[in-house]
Amino acid sequence: MLVVAALLVGSSAAAAAEQPYTVVDGKVDKKTFNGWRRYTESCLRCHGPDGAGSSYGPDLVDSVKHMTQDEFNEVVVNGRTNVNPASTSVMPPFGEVEDVVTYLDDIWAYLKARADGVLGRGRPPRIGD
Ligand code: HEC
Repeated sequence: MLVVAALLVGSSAAAAAEQPYTVVDGKVDKKTFNGWRRYTESCLRCHGPDGAGSSYGPDLVDSVKHMTQDEFNEVVVNGRTNVNPASTSVMPPFGEVEDVVTYLDDIWAYLKARADGVLGRGRPPRIGD
């Protein structure tokens, strides 16, 4: 039993070191909150509320489970156009949009918290609120 407990503590500590967000009792740190705010301003109209996807843009909560942060940043900065007979979908480049490129880490943190299932939908409460 003790060994199992130690292993669990060890692995959750290792995971914590990699987490880009802080969520305590369902409340988020400033960075994660800002990520939600920037996401809502710049990405929601295509990717749907809370990163959940829409008929136009893919579900980003799912995307960040399969992407590295570098891959994510690359798509956001440079955009991507996927044209095929069934659809023409365009992810616009945000490389020149200061409110987005300045806060790529924050948007990533917010989406990772959603992807890891530690943060629900809607406006997240802030730690200290
Ligand atoms: C004008 C609509 C639009 C806006 C605004 C938009 N996106 Fe996209 N995004 C798309 C579409 C459409 C795709 C799919 C492109 C394709 O077909 O490859 C996409 C793809 C992506 C991908 C790749 C997903 C994957 O699984 O490969 C990421 C990451 C992404 N968007 C992040 C963002 C972020 C972050 C923002 C806000 C800063 C944003 N997008 C704003 C339309 C949009």
